[in-house]
Amino acid sequence: MYNPKILGFLCNWCSYAGADLAGVSRFNYPPNLRIIRVMCSGRIDPNFILTAFEKGLDGVLVAGCHLGDCHYLTGNYHTKYKILMMKKILEKLGFETKRLRLEWVSAAEGKIFADLITEFTEELIKLGPLSVKFDKILIKNLFFAKQICSDFRLRWLISRERDLVESENAYGEKIPEEKFEKLLDHIIETELIKIKIQNLIEEKGLSAEEISSKLKIPSEKVMEHLITMNDDHKITFNIKNKMAIFAKEGGMVK
Ligand code: FES
Repeated sequence: MYNPKILGFLCNWCSYAGADLAGVSRFNYPPNLRIIRVMCSGRIDPNFILTAFEKGLDGVLVAGCHLGDCHYLTGNYHTKYKILMMKKILEKLGFETKRLRLEWVSAAEGKIFADLITEFTEELIKLGPLSVKFDKILIKNLFFAKQICSDFRLRWLISRERDLVESENAYGEKIPEEKFEKLLDHIIETELIKIKIQNLIEEKGLSAEEISSKLKIPSEKVMEHLITMNDDHKITFNIKNKMAIFAKEGGMVK
């Protein structure tokens, strides 16, 4: 029978202690979880999670103190927004987002921890194995997700979300949460298209028209992205014949 492999990133002060309490109290739960203890859930980088999936883990659990109880005050708020961003990215790439779970478990919630692992294991059994070894599209999508998660604009936005949404700026304005999410969606969408374009032209130069028909997006949009990517030195772009050529790391292609 398929036995899902789960990796849990647990914060030292609450969720790890909750897991410990589950053990001390002898609450039964499936033995599918392997734990990495981190000082705070805010320490978890999106790349840790994506690497876990790349290595063939079927599910990843991130668990920390309840909001407001983080021992470093705001660490778990950062976690909340990072996981929100990751779920949006993974969803756009067609990945089953139920495989990534964020939960708040306190040091006193041993039973809740045991129930959570039982429920997550059952859910993963229903989803079936993550066949990362055999699925080239899945591997490519995880690679795309890593690239998007490394985008400095997204990183900046996520690290500032709480300030932007909850506190007023110098002009006494707050950004409504829906507006923030729309902005997040827009950046993710843009980065995803750019990464797809870059990936397409990695092996051979393509015209804007060819890229447009392969990605099924209007050629004016492709042109816009090509120009920005050219400015960022990610590609070289020949404006006369509208050909794009990928620039390998460390220099431009002549
Ligand atoms: S210390 Fe537990 S989430 Fe920050």
